[in-house]
Amino acid sequence: MSKPCRRAFDFAVDDGSSGKYPLPDDSRSGTMPMNGNGNSAGYSGMSKKEVLALRLKCVGSPTSLYFKDDPMMIVQGEGQYLIDEKGNRYLDCINNVAHVGHTHPEITRACALQMNHLYTNSRYLHEANSTLAERITSKFPKSLDVCFFTNSGSESNDLALTLAAAHTGGTDVITQTGAYHGHVQSCMAISPYKWRSVKDKPDHVHVVSSPDTYRGKYSDSDNPTEDYVKEIQDTIDDMKKKNKKLSAFIMESMQSCGGQIIPPAGYMRDAFGKVRAAGGVCIADEVQVGFGRVGTHFWAFQLQGSDVVPDIVTVGKPMGNGHPVAAVVTTRAIAESLYKATPRYFNTYGGNAVSCTAALTVLDIIENEKLMENAIVTGKYAMEKFEQLKENHAVIGDVRGKGMFIGVEFVRDRSTKEPATEEASIVYKRMKERYILVSLDGPDNNVMKFKPPMCFSMDNVDQLVQALDDILSELATLGLI
Ligand SMILES: Cc1ncc(COP(=O)(O)O)c(C=O)c1O
Repeated sequence: MSKPCRRAFDFAVDDGSSGKYPLPDDSRSGTMPMNGNGNSAGYSGMSKKEVLALRLKCVGSPTSLYFKDDPMMIVQGEGQYLIDEKGNRYLDCINNVAHVGHTHPEITRACALQMNHLYTNSRYLHEANSTLAERITSKFPKSLDVCFFTNSGSESNDLALTLAAAHTGGTDVITQTGAYHGHVQSCMAISPYKWRSVKDKPDHVHVVSSPDTYRGKYSDSDNPTEDYVKEIQDTIDDMKKKNKKLSAFIMESMQSCGGQIIPPAGYMRDAFGKVRAAGGVCIADEVQVGFGRVGTHFWAFQLQGSDVVPDIVTVGKPMGNGHPVAAVVTTRAIAESLYKATPRYFNTYGGNAVSCTAALTVLDIIENEKLMENAIVTGKYAMEKFEQLKENHAVIGDVRGKGMFIGVEFVRDRSTKEPATEEASIVYKRMKERYILVSLDGPDNNVMKFKPPMCFSMDNVDQLVQALDDILSELATLGLI
């Protein structure tokens, strides 16, 4: 158990240790028995049927849910587990938002204490805001020393685009196939993952191939880095011919929705070189993969070498462990360019005291509980176990990953790499029947994603791999794979 996370601004409040500050006595939020698959008497709220009916009636239909055919109702989280209304406990292999574990008691406590003092907009000086800016920027190479707070990854990427345009005077953006950068209009414009067809591509957006070394455009090349980067140069040349001015190149340091893609060595260095030579700035989207998930480094772009430094980095999801807090980190020069263009960046909730407290506590917990070390050890163990499974199951075409960010790609034939999309979908549903939550992604929906809370243990890996082994063996026996 790590040290309690007390802060200077914990002053003069009954902090709960006396019992005066308990969480609401509410059976719905009380810890529920974790019995694997039995019924629990702990939940007494609305039935799943009622909740679903209300949702169907009142929530916009495009709003997505896991397991659309039989959505789950989760009433409790704890560490790497999620518990439904019946008390079924699921091993969560995909929730990179609950970075340090669901409902971490230190975050609950720190936020509750802060809420006892102040929760409002962010127009005032506050220790949590300034301290978080200092601590976040201290995690980056020296040149990235300025921080803006937002509420979500989408907002961060939108602001990153604004910063880039203000700094370069450019309009055009280069993005990658398979990229996802958020749901707001500016981000959808640069997110081919969400386009129904290339007709959705706006004129100011240019798409280069995702640097996928397994099934990407240049995966068979002797030098995929060179070929993928050449595509960027060709795009820049083409833009120049059309008198278009580059603003930014944006990429996820490792694509997640795009299928857990790890760029080849040298890709970011060379790509950034071309973009800068053309007057653009380089944005690394770390919304999914930041905060130590890769284990060896705090940010995934750092895997590409200590000399690889983006001009703007966007972070989100894990930053508040489920609390909506996100940020853009950049150079002072870029921040000043925005100041010259529009001197008033104001974001009502971005950087509010409660959100900053959640994020500060996440940083403490990553350190105190040695979660990056765990990502290295447990991630390596998971990679080895998946590799062993690959030896026994031909349907596994590729296993790739870093730390607690792994992709297992299913194929019908290893030589043609024909995607085993339907087979992957069966696996995904069967895993749920085994009380294990995984997800599928990639352009062909055939990549099983592993990006769990960072407290995931080796025993958890064993449970996951055993279930996958059983399911694949069973499907092989039935002739389904
Ligand atoms: C890489 C990446 N960037 C940005 C976003 C958008 O973040 P949010 O949903 O917090 O707006 C996401 C969300 O999935 C993402 O995966």
